[in-house]
Amino acid sequence: MKVTVAGTGYVGLVTGVCLADLGHHVTCMDVQEEKINLLKAGYSPIYETGLEPILQKNIANGRLHFTTNPKEAYAQNDLIFITVGTPENPDGTADLQYVERVALTIAGQLEDDVIVCMKSTVPVGTTEKVQKIIEQNKPPHLAVEVVSNPEFLREGSAVEDFYYGDRIVIGSRNQEAAATLEELYSPLQIPMIKTDIRSAEMIKYASNAFLATKISFINEISTLCEKIGANIDEVASGIGSDRRIGPHFLQAGIGYGGSCFPKDTKALAQLAGNVQHPFELLEAVIKVNNRQQSLPVEKAKHLLGSLQGLKVAVLGIAFKPKTDDIREAASIKIITELLNEGAIVTAYDPVAIPNAEKVFGEKVMFTDEIREAILHADLAIIATEWDQIKMFPLYLYSEYMNDALIIDGRNCYSLAQAKRHEIKYISIGRPVEQGDGSPVSLN
Ligand SMILES: NC(=O)c1ccc[n+]([C@@H]2O[C@H](COP(=O)([O-])OP(=O)(O)OC[C@H]3O[C@@H](n4cnc5c(N)ncnc54)[C@H](O)[C@@H]3O)[C@@H](O)[C@H]2O)c1
Repeated sequence: MKVTVAGTGYVGLVTGVCLADLGHHVTCMDVQEEKINLLKAGYSPIYETGLEPILQKNIANGRLHFTTNPKEAYAQNDLIFITVGTPENPDGTADLQYVERVALTIAGQLEDDVIVCMKSTVPVGTTEKVQKIIEQNKPPHLAVEVVSNPEFLREGSAVEDFYYGDRIVIGSRNQEAAATLEELYSPLQIPMIKTDIRSAEMIKYASNAFLATKISFINEISTLCEKIGANIDEVASGIGSDRRIGPHFLQAGIGYGGSCFPKDTKALAQLAGNVQHPFELLEAVIKVNNRQQSLPVEKAKHLLGSLQGLKVAVLGIAFKPKTDDIREAASIKIITELLNEGAIVTAYDPVAIPNAEKVFGEKVMFTDEIREAILHADLAIIATEWDQIKMFPLYLYSEYMNDALIIDGRNCYSLAQAKRHEIKYISIGRPVEQGDGSPVSLN
């Protein structure tokens, strides 16, 4: 099929590249010329495992094109995917300006009938709104059907998720349009759920809200564990072995971040408020997450008093491992709070430094070497569970730091390891001990 993907970000690029790899003829469109030029040269502007070789292969075989030209992108296609961003407005609602703008542009360029797929995460009712925008602005003789096809890929394993996702959701009022999407995806052999448009839009928000709830739930349990002397590792393993609950998303830590959970939970809470149903559970989930992200600096202040002039290493900037995305990352809040307290911050990340430099400029020193980050540091805060951090030997903290104190927001090391190396090691939801085995009081 002939497909255009409108918006070449984390979702659009992976979708476009992988659809080309399935044999479709794909044009990826973006308004950022720099991004498109990089892509035309075969380089991915984002860090995503396995993406670049597939990108280069499909440019070479002529199935994958990149453009900033709306006419070239939208005039004639079987399908157009909308994958532009839907960031958060200051009041928590989804900002739909990019979706609305791209809908208008598409309508203005159409020369043939087409199916438009809403892949961006949008509040219930938006796909119908986009149908209206296009109806009102397209050439009158053309038939356009807008369907909902929410995206569930996870950054860091997005290519794998494209090929082996759990389900594909297609929301449509039109059987033929739904059948075209089914045909597009059929080589993947992923179960497809066909439903109405509003339910499809809701499935996406409800999925993210449920996962966020699981995270905040285990984090609340972890706080209780700390207070009563239980160990969250044992508790999570015990809970997760119940098949009705499952082991996933039960890792206690300093909360969820990224470009989806924070904004989608807030957008769903807002949506619920708009229909006079305060979503109290979700509001609590959001509150717990905000509190969780502040834990490392709170714990640091409790243990060290003032942080003024202290040298702090923040290990991990990306919101999770295997991505360079730092949107809503816990590290941003931690670094900001540390700077506000007068600390001198060096931050380590293997891939996210260019994005972090855009946020903090010269206020923070950056390095892609853990050793360099912790050299002469008074405190190390682990914010992302990169393998590079998990595999970094604990004894080196003692060797490189002034007086090794680690606040581990992702429980990367075992308590036994910390004890063996006599390191002051504070983690999340686990009994707190000093290197000498005596308990550290956090109350
Ligand atoms: N990132 C994820 O893990 C993920 C997962 C599932 C769903 N989603 C949803 O998918 C959507 C896209 O997310 P993302 O992370 O890929 O965003 P992104 O910010 O990485 O990419 C959006 C792209 O759209 C481009 N764009 C903006 N306006 C445009 C226009 N008028 N025409 C063409 N391109 C335009 C931007 O330049 C940018 O490159 C969001 O709604 C998000 O919630 C994201």
